[in-house]
Amino acid sequence: MNTSEKATTILSGITPSGRLHIGNYFGAMRQHLDFISKGDAFYFIANYHALTSLRDGERLRQYTLDVAIDYLALGLDPQKCTFFAQSDVPEVTELAWILGTLCPVSLMEKGVAYKDKVAQGLAPNIGLFTYPILQAADILIYGSNIVPVGADQKQNLEISRDLAQKFNNMFEGDFLVIPEPYIVKDVAIVPGIDGRKMSKSYNNHIFIFDEGKDLKKKVMSIQTDATALEDPKDPDSCNVFALIKLFAENDKAAEIREAYLKGGYGYGHAKKELLGLMDAYFAPARERRRELQNNTDMVLDILSDGGKKARNRARTIMEPIREVTGIVRTH
Ligand code: ADP
Ligand code: TRP
Repeated sequence: MNTSEKATTILSGITPSGRLHIGNYFGAMRQHLDFISKGDAFYFIANYHALTSLRDGERLRQYTLDVAIDYLALGLDPQKCTFFAQSDVPEVTELAWILGTLCPVSLMEKGVAYKDKVAQGLAPNIGLFTYPILQAADILIYGSNIVPVGADQKQNLEISRDLAQKFNNMFEGDFLVIPEPYIVKDVAIVPGIDGRKMSKSYNNHIFIFDEGKDLKKKVMSIQTDATALEDPKDPDSCNVFALIKLFAENDKAAEIREAYLKGGYGYGHAKKELLGLMDAYFAPARERRRELQNNTDMVLDILSDGGKKARNRARTIMEPIREVTGIVRTH
C-alpha cells in the first residue's frame, strides 16, 4: 500500500447511533484524523445506516450533529478533508440499488450483524440484511482506494471489494476502484468498565466527553481484581492499566507499570492517575466542543459544504455507471 501519493482517496464512515466513547476514539476516530494528511480524505456520518436501528427523527438529527461536533472538536480540519452527512449524497442509495441487483442473496446471508440477530431470535429488517451493500456504495461512489476501519468491519470491506469486482466483470470495464481495507491492528480492543469490549450495547462505556463527576464515577468503578494494596500487581491483565496505556506517554506508562510490579501501588492510585491523564488528554477538545455547541449553524454549514463536494465527486463516478447500465437520465 502506498498512502503517500496525493491521488489516494481515503474514506471512512461512522454511524451516529449515540454519543461516541473511548473505544470509538482509539479504534476508529484517531486513525481517521491521522489519515487526513495521507491523501484526499472523505469522512461521513452514516445516518442512513443508523436508521437500521434508530427510529426517532429528533434523536437521529441530534446524534448526527453530535458526531459532527465531536469530530471537529477532536481536531478534524474541514479544510483538509471532505466531511459530510451520508444523506447529502442521495446517489449513494442509487448505487446501492444497482449493486444489490448483482449481489447474491447468499453473500448477505453470511453477514455477521444479520446472523447475530437471527441467532438471537430477532427478526432482522431488510435494511440490516443489505447494510453491507449500502456500505459498499459508500466506499465505491467516491473511488476510494483506502478504507481505514476497525477489525469488526473486515467482512463488510470484503463484500465491497467483491461487489466492485462483480460490477466491473459484468460490464467489462474498470468502472469501480477495488478498495483496500486498512485494518487498524496496533490498537487492541479498548476494554469497558466491566472489562468486556467497550460498547454501547454493554453499557460499559466511558464517553469521550464525559467529565467531572460523571467521568470520575465511571473511572472509579472500573473492575479490578482483589490484590491487596501492598502486593505486586500484573499490569497486563488490569483494565485500568489497559486504559492508562492509551492515554499516557511511553515513559509515564513505563513508570506506572513499574509501580504495579513493585507493589505498594493500589488500584485507587492507578484510577486517579488515569483520571488525570484523561482530563489532560481531552482538555483542548472539551474547550473546542463547548464553542462548537454554541455555534451549531457553523457546524451545519461545514457539513453542507462537504456534502456538495462529495456529491460532485459521486456524480462523476455515477455518470459512466448510468451509461453502461442503461439508466436513462433526461435532465
Ligand atoms: P459500539 O460497539 O459501541 O456500538 P460501534 O460498533 O458503533 O460501537 O463502533 C464504531 C467503530 O468504533 C467500530 O468500527 C470500531 O472499529 C470502533 N470501536 C468500537 N468499540 C471499540 C472498542 N471497544 N475498542 C476498539 N475499537 C472500537
Ligand atoms: N459500518 C460502519 C461502522 O459501523 C460505518 C460505515 C458505514 C462505514 N459506511 C461505511 C465505514 C463505509 C467505512 C466505510 O462502523
